[in-house]
Amino acid sequence: MVTGSIAVPPVARAGDTLAQVATPSLLLDLDAFDANVERMASAAAARGVAVRPHAKAHKSVAIARAQMAAGAVGICCQKVTEAIPFVNAGIGNIHISNEFVGEARVALAVAMAAHVTLSACVDDVRQVAPLGKAAQRAGVRIAVLPEVDVGQGRCGVDSTDAVAQLVDAIDHYEGLRFGGLQAYHGSAQHVDGWEKRRDTARLAADRASAYVRFLEARGIACPVVTGGGTGTAEFDIESGVYTEIQPGSYVFLDGHYGSLEWRDDWRFRHGLFLASTVMSTARNGIIVCDAGLKSVATDSGLPRFWSSQQASKPHYRTASDEHGVLELASPEEDSAPWLGEPILLVPGHCDPTVNLYDRYVAVRHGRVEGLWPIEARGLSQ
Ligand SMILES: Cc1ncc(COP(=O)(O)O)c(C=O)c1O
Repeated sequence: MVTGSIAVPPVARAGDTLAQVATPSLLLDLDAFDANVERMASAAAARGVAVRPHAKAHKSVAIARAQMAAGAVGICCQKVTEAIPFVNAGIGNIHISNEFVGEARVALAVAMAAHVTLSACVDDVRQVAPLGKAAQRAGVRIAVLPEVDVGQGRCGVDSTDAVAQLVDAIDHYEGLRFGGLQAYHGSAQHVDGWEKRRDTARLAADRASAYVRFLEARGIACPVVTGGGTGTAEFDIESGVYTEIQPGSYVFLDGHYGSLEWRDDWRFRHGLFLASTVMSTARNGIIVCDAGLKSVATDSGLPRFWSSQQASKPHYRTASDEHGVLELASPEEDSAPWLGEPILLVPGHCDPTVNLYDRYVAVRHGRVEGLWPIEARGLSQ
């Protein structure tokens, strides 16, 4: 009997062709990615609006660095631990675009604030005091942004009185400063119909504007109004209200975003794919690939077939743990030629799909350029 352990082989090596990539794998098309990063950066810059991309979508230091190189003022993270790899990698300006509570999270945030410019969201005065005290003890200063509900009905206060209370509470602590307002409307991002999405975004901006005017009337200037994602960015940068946008998914354009109506040059390119292989063709009319529920999130719909070397275009019909079943054009169609066929799929929802992988296989013109680690994968505490 041979002893010793067997190493897990790398999913791909630089220079590999797509057919050599072990599947299922998460592929990043670098041409599409570069174009998406550049498009968002230049559109926002043209209107004098800052871009603070959301790292919850990609969880990758390499991607954050590319966004910073394109002019981003910093990044957003949704969870305190999610920010750790970015702090350690020297991304110097991080906004926690979400509420957090508890001694451990507060201590972590304060520890980070010693390394980077940190901002955080609150929507209750009881979140302010622990952060204020801990920041003061540590001798750091954290910008705190009250979150206002501009239509989502999730986090965020929904009255001017509550905003005033938060601003007063923040003012009470030397370790904190009022950083502006967060006004993010998540469901607005996904409204189909360009006009309907525009109107929803305008309503959110009007609500945010009312809070800004309320504070100004009290002599409090609002240095930042941050919010907006991929779906509403084009409206938010025109609003005159948002000083900063937080798009995340635009770097990838997942299947759901791709299904929405876009105008002009605001349609981003699909940059994120699942590389999969057809591994069973036992029945005519269907082919079975190796990308199922453990390889792709299906909350926003099943993955869509994108490409292969075969002429026909099957339809991804069902996913089970390790299997994806795709239908060919007719139940009689011979499935045999598909055995071993590498295929590309577009995932329905990028964020939870990315969180299933340890690395991107970064590809340009059909060749692997490198493996990009997904350092914040699973850091959701
Ligand atoms: C607070 C916040 N900002 C920005 C985003 C980015 O949105 P998207 O990935 O749709 O661009 C999200 C996504 O959920 C979010 O929760």
